[in-house]
Amino acid sequence: MKKIFGLVLALAIISGGMVFAGGSSDTAASAGDGLITVGYAQVGAESDWRTANTESFRSTFVEENGYRLIFDDAQQKQENQIKTIRNFIQQDVDYIVVAPVVETGWETVLGEAKAAGIPVILSDRQMKLSDESLYLCWVGGDFLKEGRDAVDWLNNYLKENGRENEKLNVVLLQGTIGSSAQVGRTQGITEGLAKNPNYTLLAKQTGEFTQAKGQEVMESFLKAYDDIDVVFAENDNMAFGAIDAIKAAGKVPGKDVIIISFDAVREAFNRIIAGEINCAVECNPLHGPRVDEIIKTLEAGGTVEKIQYVKEEVFDAKNAADRLPTRAY
Ligand code: AHR
Repeated sequence: MKKIFGLVLALAIISGGMVFAGGSSDTAASAGDGLITVGYAQVGAESDWRTANTESFRSTFVEENGYRLIFDDAQQKQENQIKTIRNFIQQDVDYIVVAPVVETGWETVLGEAKAAGIPVILSDRQMKLSDESLYLCWVGGDFLKEGRDAVDWLNNYLKENGRENEKLNVVLLQGTIGSSAQVGRTQGITEGLAKNPNYTLLAKQTGEFTQAKGQEVMESFLKAYDDIDVVFAENDNMAFGAIDAIKAAGKVPGKDVIIISFDAVREAFNRIIAGEINCAVECNPLHGPRVDEIIKTLEAGGTVEKIQYVKEEVFDAKNAADRLPTRAY
């Protein structure tokens, strides 16, 4: 299906919000099979969340649904994603979907996509761009809100357990530095902690969103500080690594150390039920159908919102067991 994005994409301002109208049409100039070719520049395979996200795209962008998917795993490297996007441009795909590793440094390659008339949809993480017209729209989670929700949960938990006057030492396992998931969550967490003088943030360091690195960094925190009360892990896999480190140090995760993580994958539910994780703030990875809907709307000549936040919840010992049986990832 041949794109005519450069010709038909019309930018409109509707009630203060930006929306785009347009899309691809005509099957004649491409493979001629009527399929829409979508190139997905994925971050990597660093976490359970990412695996669920990849599966969501792979199972949605199938021939029976009208698509040909070209998938690429950037192994958490921005330079790989830039090469991939150039590759997609060369292949003259109809749409480029990017889950950007980090927020900055995309202007040149997105300018090339724009010049080639290929619409770019951002999914999951955001980009910081000097020119917002370089992408069509974005769909994903509100990382800043997730960080704030995590601290709100801690405040309520302490109150409910009569511990609101306790002085608590906190460590923070951060995601990939410069990714919008890290930037938003770190901001929400650190600003929330700073509001309460009972909290002391002892240290923060990246665990790269992986279990192995999360464990390694937690081990170093435990060596440096013998009185850690709370761990914020900016994803579940780093929390799983931290749990192993805490156990190896002879402490009980979830009891001696309060553990708060992000994503809320099925294994995190198991850990909540087992008492090892106290709270998991949801980050929903099932963006395949959402991007499908965006493309179908555009193909039908419709308009889409520029920024689309996904609704997300908070899970703990009160609701995890009830929700686990229907958990999709
Ligand atoms: O961008 C979403 C984050 O990326 C998820 O929290 C994490 O697990 C993934 O690697």
